[in-house]
Amino acid sequence: MDIIDLDEKFLGDYLVCLEGWSDEIKEGGIHKEIWYRRMKDKGLRVKLALVDGKPVGMIHYVPVEHAFAEGRDSYFIHCIWVHGHKKKGVGDHRKKGIGTALLAAAEEDARSLGAKSMAAWGVSLPVFMRASWFKKHGYRKVDKNSVALLLWKPFTDDAEPPQWIREKKKPQGAEAKVVVTAFKNGWCPAMNMVFERAKRAAAEFGDTVEFRPVETSDRATFLEWGIADGLFVDGKQVRTGPPPSFKKIKKKIARRLRSKR
Ligand SMILES: CC(C)(COP(=O)(O)OP(=O)(O)OC[C@H]1O[C@@H](n2cnc3c(N)ncnc32)[C@H](O)[C@@H]1OP(=O)(O)O)[C@@H](O)C(=O)NCCC(=O)NCCS
Repeated sequence: MDIIDLDEKFLGDYLVCLEGWSDEIKEGGIHKEIWYRRMKDKGLRVKLALVDGKPVGMIHYVPVEHAFAEGRDSYFIHCIWVHGHKKKGVGDHRKKGIGTALLAAAEEDARSLGAKSMAAWGVSLPVFMRASWFKKHGYRKVDKNSVALLLWKPFTDDAEPPQWIREKKKPQGAEAKVVVTAFKNGWCPAMNMVFERAKRAAAEFGDTVEFRPVETSDRATFLEWGIADGLFVDGKQVRTGPPPSFKKIKKKIARRLRSKR
């Protein structure tokens, strides 16, 4: 197994999170690519794990100033992912130490770039990026926002822990129509997929539903709201992990519309 920096040859694999076999992930459109083009000049780092020359794992991290946390002299891990689907694509590569190797490579890279610490988000439930996995690798919880834990590993004695940037304002509804507000940062194809599904679902109702996109890869916009990715129907948040289906989103909008009549 080799760990390499992302190069153009594997850009397509990275943009679909190594799941080129999945039609679902393509629903996320080109948002990750737009985000990537923007962030690569702002310090985005991407590493891939290759087995037999094929990418089976990835990690990407950004200077904390471009993440959803407030901090300094630190990098923030948006995503670590080792392909785990048994009969799809490159198959299951988990539990072979690849995740550990990716994390170690990212930490070494961050240190060499002068960072005093590494941060990551993790979920307190046994799904997605499990907080417990990071804790086993020396990270500790320094902040919490519902189930999203902010995990942190200092490299130096004078490193300062980051904090979550919290929601600052809530999307509003409107009198005469249903408002679907969709926040999109771009870094996560699953969240991009939710954005696209919500846009399509809203369009099916014509003028009775207004779709309001909020592009949070624009830092000022993100800071104005304190929400990076999310879906709201008339100000009520829709759970997006795991991504709701198109049908489910459409149903929620229809229900809300009926309640207004
Ligand atoms: C978290 C994650 C990156 C870990 O990757 P991984 O390659 O399986 O990690 P490791 O192999 O280093 O460690 C996993 C386990 O395998 C065990 N292991 C490591 N090497 C091993 C080996 N050679 N043989 C057997 N077991 C091994 C480890 O002890 C560890 O045990 P644990 O489950 O008790 O922690 C992976 O599970 C993943 O991608 N999860 C989904 C994360 C996600 O949702 N990301 C997207 C968020 S946007």
